[in-house]
Formats: sequence, structure tokens, C-alpha cells
Amino acid sequence: DKKNYILAIESSCDDTSAAVLCNTKVLSNVVATQEIHRQYGGVVPELASRAHQQNIVPVVHQALAKANIDKKQLSAIAFTRGPGLMGSLLVGTSFAKSLALGLNIPLIEVNHMEAHILAHFIEDGDKTPPKFPFLGMTISGGHTQIVKVCDHFDMEILGETLDDAVGEAFDKSAKLMGLPYPGGPLVDKYSKLGNPNAFEFPKPKVDGLNFSFSGLKTSILYFLQRETQKNPAFVEENINDICASVQYTILEILMDKLTLAVEQTGIQEIAIGGGVAANSGIRARLKEAEEKMGWKTYIPKFEYCTDNAAMIGIVGYLKFLKGDFTNQSVAAKARYAI
Ligand code: KG4
Ligand code: ZN
Repeated sequence: DKKNYILAIESSCDDTSAAVLCNTKVLSNVVATQEIHRQYGGVVPELASRAHQQNIVPVVHQALAKANIDKKQLSAIAFTRGPGLMGSLLVGTSFAKSLALGLNIPLIEVNHMEAHILAHFIEDGDKTPPKFPFLGMTISGGHTQIVKVCDHFDMEILGETLDDAVGEAFDKSAKLMGLPYPGGPLVDKYSKLGNPNAFEFPKPKVDGLNFSFSGLKTSILYFLQRETQKNPAFVEENINDICASVQYTILEILMDKLTLAVEQTGIQEIAIGGGVAANSGIRARLKEAEEKMGWKTYIPKFEYCTDNAAMIGIVGYLKFLKGDFTNQSVAAKARYAI
């Protein structure tokens, strides 16, 4: 088989990433995470684009070096066109266009949300990818979507969040408890020591397969205000139980919608991705659904769940096989539907 080398670039939010793939195999996947945003408790777009500008060349050099590939061996360059922060997307887009022009090789544009789903097709030992049709659920700090996937490039969004993403729900709840950003992993950690039924939070009433998480944040805020008025040490004394109850509510929301999607489509192949896929609770709930409901579930390696260029590279390779190239007039797109 012919070896095609794809260089992929991802810069949609606050991670600058470059990867080199040989067909479906990842040779390198370098991610420069921008620590600068921590002190602000969230991503600051202006700082993100500036950091991308500083990081992009070293990150690409590292990806090529780690893959032990010379840029002259590259078959094509794939990049994230959108969706994402405009200032961030522009850096990766401009860089990819210039390099493809300089090397005189094909340029391939990639939709970031498609990439989160197609990350499941990255070669990973003897793991098999999900079979079509499957349901993809992308859950991260920026996204919450359920997608019906009939083929690599035949996808339909069945539902998505109307306000906050699920990762934001974790992070904002954590912030209300005084935990540092991003709080999701800490909520997960403390949950393991707490009682998920200690406190009850309302689940939003949203029709169909759409999500809403902003009401949960508000009810947690009022709950914590009320309790700390009675006992100023309430959060400190009950952190494990609060985290466990918040996480339980979020997982119930996700599992309810996923169950509804399975009922509506009759599809029991479930593939999840995004940073929140690292949550130990969601992993346990999916395992349980495999046993009790006969679902088949798939979770990629953590490094392919969070924002990364390897997932852009696999889409790049699949488009390369189809000859689906773009040209030098392509522009970044902040809003870009699947
Ligand atoms: O995919 P990602 O790295 O970046 C975005 O595209 O947003 O996802 C980051 C999000 C953050 O909200 C973070 O708190 C959440 O994923 N996260 C978790 C866990 N690990 C990361 N949330 C809950 N439990 C975890 N273990
Ligand atoms: Zn993402």
C-alpha cells in the first residue's frame, strides 16, 4: 500500500496542535496548551490568537521531527477551517495555506466537529472503529452534540446545546465551589468520594435531543448561596457530596438524551468524544448501558478526545483518498455546521 503522509494543523480554540499521519496511523501529535488562560478562568480570544502565532512554527517543527519526516515527503496539508474562534482559526488557516503553496501540495480543509467524530477512525492497536450507522456524541468545553453518522461524510446533527456546553457546566459549577479552572476534572475526582443523591438539582426541560445547561448553573448558584448563609463552611464541609450530586445531574441529562436518541433511531452503536469523555462517571454509565441495554460504545484515547491535530489528520487522509481538496481562496469560518 502507498504511504501517504498528511500534516495536520489545529488552532480552533486555545490549543495549538500539529500532527503527522501515515495513512490512518498517527506518527506524531504535538499539542501546545495555552496556560495563559488559567488565570482568567476561561479562554481569552485575543490572547489565544497571539499564542497560536507564537506556537505554530515550533509545534509544526516538533511534529515533523517526532514523526521523523521531512516536509518534502508530505502528501498534503490538512487544517481546521472551523468552527471556532476567528482569531485562532486564522493563524492555522494562513499557515496551512502558505505551507501548501510553498511545497506545492494539496490543501485540505477540515470541519472541527466532524473531526471529533472521525477521531474514532485513527488506528489504535486492534481496536475496531464504530460501524455505520452510529451515534456520535461530542462533549467538551466548547461543544455538546448528538450526531447521526451514516458514513464518514454523511452526518446529521440530531441535537445540540441551546446555551452552555457540558464542559462549561462542569467548569462553571466548579467555579461556584471555588475550584480552579478548568474544574471538570476536579469535580470528577471529588465525586468519587461523595454521595450522588446527597443534593437534588433540577434537570432542564428541553424538547427532543437538544440540551440546556445554563439553568443548572443558576440553580447551583442559588443553592450554594442559601446553604452558605446558614453555614459559611458548607462548601468546604460538603465538597464531595456537592460534586457527586452535580456530576450525577449532568450525567443523567446526557444519558437521558442518548437513550432518547437510541430509541428514536434504533441505533445502538455509540461513539463519544471531547474532553468530557474523560469523565469517569460517563465511562461507567456507558459500560453499564452496554451490559443492560446491549449498546456498543466507543471512546477514543484521551489524547484524541481533547482538541488535537491527529483528528484533523484522519479527516485529511479520508478526504485525500477522495481527492477532496480546497484552494488558496479558502477562508476560516467561525460558524461552520457539519
Ligand atoms: O475537548 P476539550 O479539551 O476542549 C474543548 O474543546 O473545550 O474539553 C475541555 C473540557 C473542560 O470543560 C474540562 O473541564 C472538561 O473537558 N473535562 C472534564 C474532565 N476532563 C476534562 N469534565 C469532567 N470530567 C473530567 N474528567
Ligand atoms: Zn473541540
